Amino acid sequence: MANIPSNLATRDIESLIHPYTNLAAFRDSGPLIIERGQGIHLYDTAGRSYIDGMAGLWCTALGWGNEELADTAAAQMRKLAFGHLFGGKSHDGAIELAEKLKEIAPCPTSKVFFCNSGSEANDSQIKLVWYMNNALGRPRKKKIISRRKAYHGVTIAAASLTGLPANQTDFDVPIANILHTSCPHHYRFAHDGESEEDFAARLAAELDDLIQREGPDTVAAFFVEPVMGAGGVIVPPKGYFEKVLKVCARYDIYVISDEVICGFGRLGTRFGCQAFGFEPHAISVAKALTSAYVPMAALTVPEVMYQAMLEESRKIGTFGHGFTYTGHPVAAAVALKALEIYERERLVERAAKLAPQFQARLAALAAHPLVGEARGYGLVGAVELVADKASKRSFDPKAGVGPRAVAFAEAEGLLLRFLAGDVMSICPPLVITPQEIDELFDRLGRALDRALDWARRERLLQP
Ligand SMILES: Cc1ncc(COP(=O)(O)O)c(C=O)c1O
Repeated sequence: MANIPSNLATRDIESLIHPYTNLAAFRDSGPLIIERGQGIHLYDTAGRSYIDGMAGLWCTALGWGNEELADTAAAQMRKLAFGHLFGGKSHDGAIELAEKLKEIAPCPTSKVFFCNSGSEANDSQIKLVWYMNNALGRPRKKKIISRRKAYHGVTIAAASLTGLPANQTDFDVPIANILHTSCPHHYRFAHDGESEEDFAARLAAELDDLIQREGPDTVAAFFVEPVMGAGGVIVPPKGYFEKVLKVCARYDIYVISDEVICGFGRLGTRFGCQAFGFEPHAISVAKALTSAYVPMAALTVPEVMYQAMLEESRKIGTFGHGFTYTGHPVAAAVALKALEIYERERLVERAAKLAPQFQARLAALAAHPLVGEARGYGLVGAVELVADKASKRSFDPKAGVGPRAVAFAEAEGLLLRFLAGDVMSICPPLVITPQEIDELFDRLGRALDRALDWARRERLLQP
């Protein structure tokens, strides 16, 4: 703790549990305490400024200091600070937002259900699929398929969907009835010489085999992120969705597109599934729904599911699911304002226009001696750091290369995240300008150079 100067840092260490943090190492490193934000910049308590290259946690699409969102929240708090939707109570914000999401959803949508986080949305999706299949008289059709390296959240069912070891080890998940199929990462999992199309075909065949093995009448749903985010920003190979969704259609499997990161413009389309030309049965959204100014998430319900829910309600006497803050009026008002701003400022089109510059700067990093793969889509990307480019050999996780590289980025005034496998992810606010994109990648380039020098000194690289 010798290098932690401020009293606030000590108080943090003695009072907070930090998510996704090595709690033991943190006692020495201490926190980076952020005081305020403006545009794409954050400022810490020592007055240092940073480009937030991760839009918070893939969420603050409109950046910081948006007066319209702040004014909307304040006005709504004065008018109706809380209102719930239990027992048929309602308020205009929830109604209007549900209508808006129905209008723009990328799949036929009968109703919208609100919750507060991506995890809750995906947990609710699973419960509703089970509920629906009970109502439809197919009580065996309950298994849910997700993909290795998927990220769908951390509540018990969502953590079970998530296919990352750190989210499962010693948490006693996955729960029963959750299955995982292959991760669509060509760089890591394709065979030597296998084309993207052939890799996609192999993964579709593997999915088909898994469903056959389990019994198609027992498999209910398949969860996908259009581009996998926290698993490493993994862009699927060409033809992937067409092929795997054909398999799902063959066995009447409900497809859920987890749009928690990809929704609202991240890939240069309104929803991520639209970037890859597929239509799911339902979507989960969160994060950019409110530009993260207040927590809110939602999922869409197609007519067939709604009819089944009606049936259950008649039988049981109620629909026994929902949260105190389902459809919170402040969140609903902020979400409506955020959606209005995305449309008015044409931010989806803007993201599509900025994507070539962003992706070109990202792709150029592939030449760096530390970078095994630079990958991305729209305004999201990642670099995967490797010990040997030719063999794609990863570093020993204990060497901590990813965390070290992210610390160098921080020293260069750029906040990024490291993901498992020494992956540095980049996901700036959608309001970033072309000049700021260049500045972001200049800083990242300098951070990679510093990480390279360090890795050489530590003799971590192939001689
Ligand atoms: C694709 C995806 N789904 C679900 C979640 C979980 O959302 P939350 O952290 O709001 O529970 C996340 C969070 O990063 C996510 O990226």
